Amino acid sequence: MEQRANSIRTVKRTLLGQETADGAGVRLTRLIGGPQLPQLDPFLLLDDFRSDDPEDYIGGFPPHPHRGFETVTYLLAGRVEHRDNAGHAGVLEAGGVQWMTAGRGVVHSEMPKQQDGLLAGFQLWVNLPAKQKMSEPRYQEFDRQAIPEEQRGDGVTVRVVAGRTSLDTQGPVRELMTPARYFDITLPAGARFSEPLPAAYNAFVYLLEGAVSIDAVALKGRTLAVLGDGEAVELAAREPSRLLLVAGLPLGEPIARRGPFVMNNEAELRQAFTDYQEGRF
Ligand code: FE2
Repeated sequence: MEQRANSIRTVKRTLLGQETADGAGVRLTRLIGGPQLPQLDPFLLLDDFRSDDPEDYIGGFPPHPHRGFETVTYLLAGRVEHRDNAGHAGVLEAGGVQWMTAGRGVVHSEMPKQQDGLLAGFQLWVNLPAKQKMSEPRYQEFDRQAIPEEQRGDGVTVRVVAGRTSLDTQGPVRELMTPARYFDITLPAGARFSEPLPAAYNAFVYLLEGAVSIDAVALKGRTLAVLGDGEAVELAAREPSRLLLVAGLPLGEPIARRGPFVMNNEAELRQAFTDYQEGRF
């Protein structure tokens, strides 16, 4: 089919995600990476954790490995302490982001550093191209103040975590092995938002609160909308709303995946388990 110039992305599908538990019993909603939507190349997983009940999160994520991709933790509320086997440690605070390139291997813990109150945020897994899967682990960490807020007409605010907007605001996460954009957008009721996105990118909107329309599809509450092909996204807020707009260049490479390891074939996957068991991470 021929593509119109500046064609607007429609909604290909919507989903609410699946309640699950991971780590030491942390309750979360899995939007990408579950049976409903195993992946959206280059994105392998999207978890939404949000609870004011310490029972849901206090166990945290004790030491566990990763190889072959990046984990992006964006925190809205609470504090999470992280520590890895190479001695890298710190505390992620509300409004901050940690873009961790696990590369050849990281063993780390991610633990809530609070006994009560709200803990809320997201973890996104971004796949790495085959040639980068065994790269040295790397961190890009930025606190709330380091993430620019772009003010637009209609009272729309765009927090630019990664990538560059059409109004030339660039996010602090700049070393992107897999090209991606990660925007956190707040809209008052009645506001419209439009933004070009490269046609080659896969993209999704995750509505956190409020109600928006994309194309002719009305979304409400916490809903993931996978966007169809096109060169721009356009949406309108029917209520005060907040959403994530995330897009990335698909890798189009074979995926061999088990638990915390995501490689290109079974042999590499077996090697990952062996390397981990024999302490080579
Ligand atoms: Fe992790």
